[in-house]
Amino acid sequence: MSHVKALKAQKVFLYSLNSFVLLVLFCGCVKADDGYRLWLRYEPLPARSRSRIKTISVQGQSATFDVIRSELSQGCSGLLGRTIEVGNRDDASVVVGLPQTSTLVRNLKWDAELKRLGPEGFRIRTVRNVIVIASTTDIGALYGAFYFLRLLQTEQPLDHLQIDQRPALKLRLLNHWDNLDGSIERGYAGKSLWMNTDNDRRLIDYARANASIGINGSVLNNVNANSEFLTAKYLQKFAAIADVFRPYGIRVYLSPRFSAPIELGRLPTADPLDPAVIEWWKQKADEIYKLIPDFGGFLVKANSEGQPGPRTYNRTHADGANMLAAALAPHHGIVMWRAFVYDLKPGYDRAGAAYEELQPFDGKFAPNVLLQVKNGPIDFQPREPFHPLFGAMPRTQLMPELQITQEYLGFDNHFVFLATMWREFLDSDTYARGRGSTVSRVVDGSLYRQRLTGIAGVANTGTDRNWTGYDLLQANWYAFGRLAWNPNASAQQIATEWTRMTLTHDVRAVTTIVGLMLGSHEAVVNYMTPLGLHHLFWGGHHYGPAPWWDTEKRDDWNPVYYHKADAFGIGFDRTKTGSNTVSQYRPEVARQFGRIDTCPEKYLLWFHHVPWNFMLRSGDALWDELALHYQSGVDWVRSTRATWATLSGVIDPERHAAISKKLAIQERDAVWWRDACLLYFQSFSKEPLPPGVEHAAKPLSEYKAKALDW
Ligand code: GCU
Repeated sequence: MSHVKALKAQKVFLYSLNSFVLLVLFCGCVKADDGYRLWLRYEPLPARSRSRIKTISVQGQSATFDVIRSELSQGCSGLLGRTIEVGNRDDASVVVGLPQTSTLVRNLKWDAELKRLGPEGFRIRTVRNVIVIASTTDIGALYGAFYFLRLLQTEQPLDHLQIDQRPALKLRLLNHWDNLDGSIERGYAGKSLWMNTDNDRRLIDYARANASIGINGSVLNNVNANSEFLTAKYLQKFAAIADVFRPYGIRVYLSPRFSAPIELGRLPTADPLDPAVIEWWKQKADEIYKLIPDFGGFLVKANSEGQPGPRTYNRTHADGANMLAAALAPHHGIVMWRAFVYDLKPGYDRAGAAYEELQPFDGKFAPNVLLQVKNGPIDFQPREPFHPLFGAMPRTQLMPELQITQEYLGFDNHFVFLATMWREFLDSDTYARGRGSTVSRVVDGSLYRQRLTGIAGVANTGTDRNWTGYDLLQANWYAFGRLAWNPNASAQQIATEWTRMTLTHDVRAVTTIVGLMLGSHEAVVNYMTPLGLHHLFWGGHHYGPAPWWDTEKRDDWNPVYYHKADAFGIGFDRTKTGSNTVSQYRPEVARQFGRIDTCPEKYLLWFHHVPWNFMLRSGDALWDELALHYQSGVDWVRSTRATWATLSGVIDPERHAAISKKLAIQERDAVWWRDACLLYFQSFSKEPLPPGVEHAAKPLSEYKAKALDW
């Protein structure tokens, strides 16, 4: 795909989209919807919310301003049900501009305020009947335009707007685990959006969706990297993609393979302190920046799950990260060094490995390095306590890595709204500087004042027509972007916005759907891994349950390693009597988690090996409580199916039916999870199921014989 071709496609697309909107207006009917338009549907609003906007003035000239013009024109025309002219006169209903491109904005004398909002921030104000959207940069203006469209889409009053916005985090990135062959590791929504295709239209719509929620970077390839991604052929391809993304404020990043100097440069080593290796990376960086002048930088998985890294040469993680950082620094690039490292030592606790390996390097990383840490200490489980590194590295720039794709959450079959889970993580109190030192304050720089801040989400997108394989899971892409912009946003607010933009304006239906979204994560935890259980998944694909699994060559790839069920009880003892990795948390947290009577029950079996007859706060014994949790997960899916059925007619028939089908799969799976897990754990507890918990339809041997298929 050539640069010119990409830009041409962009233009043609923008015009054709306008005609499409007009066509829809002309038909004036609600039709089946295949989900392609995500939350940017721009269908006519209910009559109660048609504002008086007549004309829009976009005052600026650049590729980004062209995007603003096109987006506002199609958005407003679609939403308001009539053609809205976009020009550049000062007497329009809406004016977009920068002090340097718009006399009207300049005369408002907002320079100091706009400067304070930073290059990506913006102001939206109603000034004498004109809605003004102002920023100091084109990209800030684009974010402002999308914000304004969201106000319309969610039917907010426009009369007295007083909005100042700036993103709380600088780097708001999607990580794509895309492979050379176009497949996506842990991807459930089709193929890579760019590896094997030149579909510019798809790229533009991907960029629009991201810009609309403030995502400003994409790592284009898998962290399990292939060196070929750094060859001229691929760099040219990535340069063309960067050209398409640029007007939308999205920078391109890559995952390099640490041993690339050997594979591509024919050097005998990839030792980060070897002068020839240092020089090789420097030249590689120069080559990349020649093609992509605003290239963002590298995301590195090193010495993790078989990947090469500095430890291969007896060097430290800091040596490796800083060497790459030095190659990128002259070009203002950054390195995101992943903390997902774990070794197999006899008797070790994997949950403590990253802390052991990386905490000693606090303060040793170069200024353009961030340490990218998964939200929890194991691996994207349905529920984990926060990673102890978030409370333990005050002199290191930490950025969380969340998984939007649902590797351990039912792939693209289970309805789980992840914002609630992410809220729980971001609100966790690390006590790093006393009470109130939440994870969000650690990562947004307000606690330690670090210069670079960021957050990454492993994407759930692919070439499926609806992008995420399941219409409802588009909400997680959306929620990631909104939380990256504002890590304090409420899950309810995000769910409400998304539902109104994507599914319906029917007030009762919105309330119902938001209720389902907010309950979904807890329900899935209940039927998969309640009370702090984790990693009960079938090996390799991680879809269904296999708590009995004990055949992997590494102990810590086996579920039995994590639940440790026996005749006495169940759970991983991470207290002083066990691995003591609870001590990696600050004393206040360690004390709370470390005592069986103060540990939040949602983390109980994460930190404690608990007797089957231990009394929980409900007054039920552990075994009964466990069984009731599994049952309540199943009950939730059943009642959700019934509720969803009542929404037919409010949601377009195509998506309503598609979602109904997925919910049926989810019920099948929830029942399977409950039955497989309870039958297996019952072989240790030897207790009967408590009243209200249904009996399994099949014997345990049948659940063991064949994986749940998807
Ligand atoms: C998980 C996942 C892998 C992935 C790894 C990582 O272990 O199963 O597919 O490569 O995380 O985050 O690096």
